Amino acid sequence: APGPSTREMMTGFRSIRADPLDFLCRAREQYGDLVAFPVPGPPALLVSDPTDVRRVLQTSARNWSKDTVQYRALARVTGPGLLASAEPNWLEHRRLVAPAFHHQRLHSLAAKVANAGDRALDVHVGWSSRTHTVDVAEVCLRIALDVVGDAILSTDLSEQAHRLLEATSAAARLVVRLGQSILPERIPSALNRRLTTTRRKLDVLCFELIEARRAAGSHGDDLLGLLIEGGLSDQEIRDELVTMVIAGHETVAAALSWTLMLLAEHPSAQDGVRSEVALLPGSVPMMQTRSVLPWTRAVIDEALRLYPPAWVISRRSRAADLIGGREVPAGTTAIISPWVLHRRADAWNDPERFRPQRFRDGSVPRANYLPFGAGPRLCIGRDFALGEMAIILSRIVSRFRVELPAEWSRPSPQADVAVHPSGGMPLCLTPIRSP
Ligand code: HEM
Repeated sequence: APGPSTREMMTGFRSIRADPLDFLCRAREQYGDLVAFPVPGPPALLVSDPTDVRRVLQTSARNWSKDTVQYRALARVTGPGLLASAEPNWLEHRRLVAPAFHHQRLHSLAAKVANAGDRALDVHVGWSSRTHTVDVAEVCLRIALDVVGDAILSTDLSEQAHRLLEATSAAARLVVRLGQSILPERIPSALNRRLTTTRRKLDVLCFELIEARRAAGSHGDDLLGLLIEGGLSDQEIRDELVTMVIAGHETVAAALSWTLMLLAEHPSAQDGVRSEVALLPGSVPMMQTRSVLPWTRAVIDEALRLYPPAWVISRRSRAADLIGGREVPAGTTAIISPWVLHRRADAWNDPERFRPQRFRDGSVPRANYLPFGAGPRLCIGRDFALGEMAIILSRIVSRFRVELPAEWSRPSPQADVAVHPSGGMPLCLTPIRSP
């Protein structure tokens, strides 16, 4: 397959680190749907053709494992938890945690999500009638961390649970640096030493929580309870808890921040969400957002198209396979980028434009829309995330008008664990007076 030469990669290297999103988009534009990067050993391919993407993630999924640089870096923090696991026992774990994401259970979380949103708004914005300029990225991170804590560790978050959430959130930041580091774990670099300390801290916090729950006798219906009842070892439970916190908060927080920015840029879309929510007889449910709040859901879908938090998905072939109609050897790395697919000009009408309507008029090229991945490793928290976003957005826009600050320039997207706004997302929130 065509692709940049080693020299081009070397000169482009700074830009792949500084701006991997732009780098990947340019690579596809320049070389097409299959780009080969010049690496030693088996090929590393940027795969963008819908048939190949489907093959890697779906039809030939068994042959494509998560034994990649991306997931190995994550696993150094999470261990082989559900997201990073390249192990055959992944499916057992997925089945075990699935009840935590069943519709019934999600339904019962709606009030907690709304409370977490209200709490954060009270603290960060308060009740005065003036306009506040608020870093919504920070507020959304707080909300998303609280919500995931509620979901996995139950209602009354103990001091211990709070400490685990904070420590895990900080650990997530290490993952990106680990992905870029070429030093093996045994070398006592500053980064590796920090990793060891962080892991130890997470272990202690998790093991204490697990022990306390075991001692309490009743396991509860949250994720921790399910994992204990499922007979997993303490180490396995620790890995799943850390995984869920990492997978479930930065992604949602980033998605919410970008959605709020797009709503501030498009006041009529924001009015649409506000009036749809106002017409709802009860509170916003966690489920069936598409039928209950069609416009709000279209806004969320469109925001996830323009700013997919999970910007890259990688796999490695266990055995030879077919990509682009040609055989690729065992050990081939396939890089699939939702960011690239969601913005391709040959698939999307006016791809750079925020146009939620496209999700209502049936003009979406589904094969090029993968905010939650696809196939057996599809995001297990998908419905949870969509419901959570609908609830939080509804709380914010029914209480505040969201506007751009006077000196506005769009924050640039920074591709870390999730694509988040670099330097935060300062927006103006003005309380709406009740009539
Ligand atoms: C997997 C995106 C929210 C837990 C994934 C994958 C994507 C994704 C793209 C597939 C990765 C791959 O195939 O390599 C997102 C986005 C979210 C979100 C964009 C928010 C807007 C959540 C939440 C949770 C969660 C709220 C849990 C509370 C997971 C887990 C996996 C996963 C455990 C691995 C599933 C498996 O391999 O069986 N997510 N996610 N995610 N996500 Fe999410």
